[in-house]
Amino acid sequence: MPDTITIDVNQLDRRDRYHLMISSVIPRPIAWTSTISRAGITNLAPFSFFGGVSTDPPIVMLSIGRRRDGSHKDTARNLLDTAEAVVHICPALDGPSMVATSADLSPTESEFDSAGLPSIASSIVAPPRLERFAIAMETRRIMHSEVGNGPVDLFLLEAICFHLRSDLVVDGLVDASRLAALGRLGGSLYCDTARPFSIE
Ligand SMILES: Cc1cc2nc3c(=O)[nH]c(=O)nc-3n(C[C@H](O)[C@H](O)[C@H](O)COP(=O)(O)O)c2cc1C
Repeated sequence: MPDTITIDVNQLDRRDRYHLMISSVIPRPIAWTSTISRAGITNLAPFSFFGGVSTDPPIVMLSIGRRRDGSHKDTARNLLDTAEAVVHICPALDGPSMVATSADLSPTESEFDSAGLPSIASSIVAPPRLERFAIAMETRRIMHSEVGNGPVDLFLLEAICFHLRSDLVVDGLVDASRLAALGRLGGSLYCDTARPFSIE
């Protein structure tokens, strides 16, 4: 038997619980998320507490923590107010731009502008999508719940329209190696899907 470290999470402080979670639940896909405020200001931010929930209909989940003062992050505020989002999957090449959009800007500033990322209109929803996108899902909020002591804002979003860059699609499926989608690990570490392998 290898030596074991067994951790009672109740003995950890908030910071250590955070680090245990984000370095253990890996790799995490990243939802690079565009929303729009009631006032019409666009917002773009990454979230890695993100995952697929169902396929019929396609539903994804997004978990958004609160700011230190307990207030909603702009993405959560916008999803509560306007109920729509575009979730992009981020290729490794766009990693630095994606991280730049995690800056905590005021709700009156758009990360599309601060990060110099041009946007184009979506087909159905109000938030725009990235002009230089790989995969973009237009989504609508179908559920919101507050979870845990933070609390975090948990959203279920139904994807109503997918945009796929055509050179990424092989035999009707997105090719993981062409996409090289980023995954988040603990700390500032990332991985990508450039070298997938098969298990029959
Ligand atoms: C790769 C990456 C993943 C992140 N994942 C999350 C997450 O799952 N939940 C969260 O609350 N914040 C997450 N963040 C931090 C948010 O992106 C950050 O708080 C951002 O300022 C929120 O923007 P907003 O206020 O415009 O919504 C992540 C940041 C990065 C770079």
